[in-house]
Amino acid sequence: MDEKDIFILRKLYENEYISGEELASSLNISRMAINKRIKSLKALGYKIESARKKGYELSDKDIIRIWEIKDYIQSSNLFKEFIYLDEVDSTNTYVKQNQQHLESATVVYAERQTQGRGRLSRRWVDLEKGIKMSILLKLLLLDLEKIVPLTLFTGLVINRVLRKYRVNSFIKWSNDIYLNGKKVCGILCELSGEVEGFGSIIIGIGINVNAKSIPDEIKDIATSLKAETSKDFDRTRLIINILKEFEKEFPNFETYGFSHFRDEYKNFCINLGKEILVNGQKMLCMDIGKNGELVCEKDGKIVEISSGEVTIRF
Ligand code: BTN
Repeated sequence: MDEKDIFILRKLYENEYISGEELASSLNISRMAINKRIKSLKALGYKIESARKKGYELSDKDIIRIWEIKDYIQSSNLFKEFIYLDEVDSTNTYVKQNQQHLESATVVYAERQTQGRGRLSRRWVDLEKGIKMSILLKLLLLDLEKIVPLTLFTGLVINRVLRKYRVNSFIKWSNDIYLNGKKVCGILCELSGEVEGFGSIIIGIGINVNAKSIPDEIKDIATSLKAETSKDFDRTRLIINILKEFEKEFPNFETYGFSHFRDEYKNFCINLGKEILVNGQKMLCMDIGKNGELVCEKDGKIVEISSGEVTIRF
């Protein structure tokens, strides 16, 4: 999608109807060229109707307003670039493959993922009208041990933003966001590339937002914001609010580390005080450590866990 397509989408979004002539003259291209572009936007999934004498109408306005996110990114002190993709295998994979040409603090968003990846080599099921994005951070190798705390920090930021929307969400260690006992958001942080003292962290965020129905294969464990609240969320605002909150708190994370956020994290962490299974072993979750590790008790001994599969036994 190029700048002209984004302009057309913006005009369609902002007007009830917009004529082909008007679009053609604003962009200084022919009516035929407009027709062609409208056709390819439709092929990408945009619901554009044409009404005689009135012009084109965007009948489903739940689209990502690329121009608004780009405006925010331009004014941001942290984020440098926003890349919008209609479809990709996985935004994390895309960032990994293109990281040499991407600036640090680039955000890559995809409307559809054909091979979305989850933690522990699982699949991330692509639900319509969700948010699937990855943030690339190029860091000094020295800082790479921050990867676990960084994923927890990202989960906390998303939980905080959702709570501002009055969503009653919680965090399941390490960084799943739960709503009414089911997962609405997952985060996949990956380390990648080491060049001259630098490495990259790719923070992949998947949020189930406006999907009305959840596929059978995951409906017992996953949900969407819409399915739980019966409300439609403005995905563009949600993305911007998450990036803004991340930007606002990132300096605190860099200066003080996870410990600055530990109390808030603990407040919303559903594992605390529960009996949990860690890689199949039963333990009692006692605390969250200074760097975000799970502190558990097993057979009278304290065990610290910083990765692996955790299941809560209610
Ligand atoms: C999990 O809970 O297992 C993590 C899920 C992470 C999904 C997101 S969607 C955007 C990014 N691209 C991917 O392929 N995965 C992450």
